[in-house]
Amino acid sequence: MVKQRITDVVQIDPVAPMGEVIERAAHLLRQGELVVFPTETVYGLGADALQPAALEGIFAAKGRPLSDPLIIHIAELAALDALTSSLPVAIWRLTQVFWPGPLTLILPRGPQVPRIVTAGMETVAVRMPGHPVALALIRALGSPIAAPSANRFMHISPTTAAHALADLDGRVPLILDGGPCKVGVESTILDLSIEIPTILRPGGVSIEALRAVLPEVHILDQHKPLSETQAQKAPGQLTIHYAPTVPLLLFDGSAEAMRAAMLKELAARTARGERVGLLVADADLPAFQQQSSALIYSLGDPAQPAQIAASLFASLRALEEAHVQVILCRTFPLHDLGLAIRDRLGRAAGGEIISV
Ligand code: TXA
Ligand code: MG
Repeated sequence: MVKQRITDVVQIDPVAPMGEVIERAAHLLRQGELVVFPTETVYGLGADALQPAALEGIFAAKGRPLSDPLIIHIAELAALDALTSSLPVAIWRLTQVFWPGPLTLILPRGPQVPRIVTAGMETVAVRMPGHPVALALIRALGSPIAAPSANRFMHISPTTAAHALADLDGRVPLILDGGPCKVGVESTILDLSIEIPTILRPGGVSIEALRAVLPEVHILDQHKPLSETQAQKAPGQLTIHYAPTVPLLLFDGSAEAMRAAMLKELAARTARGERVGLLVADADLPAFQQQSSALIYSLGDPAQPAQIAASLFASLRALEEAHVQVILCRTFPLHDLGLAIRDRLGRAAGGEIISV
C-alpha cells in the first residue's frame, strides 16, 4: 500500500540551494519520508539509506520489485568506510577523476548497509553525485541517501521535476525542482567487485574516459542476452527496462539510408491513419518537416553526443504524452555518451534494431 498524500513541488536554486528548503527536505528524510531531488544525471527518489522502513517506501512508490537493488549516494569519500567491507586500489584513481559525477561503483558491501538496499547481494552500488542540491541534501541529512531514478518501475527516467511529478504525484510529499538535468542519462555502473572492472550499464561517464584511467575496463556485451550469473550481477539490466509506453522502431544505417527508411515507414503509417512520432537529428529536419501530420523532435547534432543525451528522455516523454501510436527513431554514433544513448534506445525498442 502506498500512502496517498499531496505532493509539493518546490523550486530550488541548482547552483546555490537555499538552506531552508534543504532543511525541510532533510527533515522529511529523517522522519523516514521520501524526497525527489535533482542530480546531474536524472532525478532521484531518495530515502535515508540507513532506515529500512523508509527504503521499503521507495519500492512501494515506484512499484519496483525488491529484487532490484538501489544506489547509495554519498557526499564525502569518508562515507565509503561504513558502506563497504574492502576497497580495491583502483577506486582512488577513479574517484579522483570522476567523483562527484555520473559514475556508480559496485563494491563489496559493508555490514551496516541494510539488506533491502542491496537486494540481499554481497555488493553495494555507491556514487557521489555532481549536483549541488544532491550534495547539500546528503550533508544536511548527515547520512547517505539511497535513490533510484524517480520514475515508476520500467518507465523512462525523469530529467525534469515535471517528469517526476507525472510518475509519482500523490506518492511522495516533496519534489525539489532544480531545473533540467544536465547529463540526461543515468550514471555509468562499473563493477569493481570482480577481477576485471566491468561496465554493467553505460551512462554519463564514457568508456573512453574510464579506459584513460583504467585501461582494463571491460563492458558486458550489449547484444548477447545475459547469462544467469550475469543477470544476477546486473539486476535491472533487463531489455525491457526504460520502455516508453509507445512502441519504438529503431533504424540504423547511414544518415541517408535511415532518413529514406523512416520516410517510407512514415508514409505507410500515415496512410493507415496512424499518429506517428519521429526522433531525428537537426540535419534530418528539412526532409521530414513537409510531413506535417507527424510529430517531430530533433535530439540535436549527432557529432555532439552530450547534447543528444541531454534531450533524449524528455523527447521520448513528450511523444508519449502527445499519444503518438508509434515512435520512429534513428541511431546516433557510438562514441562518448553514444554508447549510453544506444543502450537506452535499444531497450526502448525492445532489443530490436532495423538495419537499413
Ligand atoms: O544516475 C543514476 O544512477 C540515477 C541517479 C538518481 O543517481 N540512479 C539510478 O538508479 O539510475 P536506478 O535504481 O534507476 O538504477 C540503478 C541500477 C539498477 O539497474 C540496479 O539493478 C543496479 O543499479 N544496481 C544497484 N546495486 C547493484 C549491485 N550491487 N550490483 C549490480 N547492480 C546494481
Ligand atoms: Mg531507474
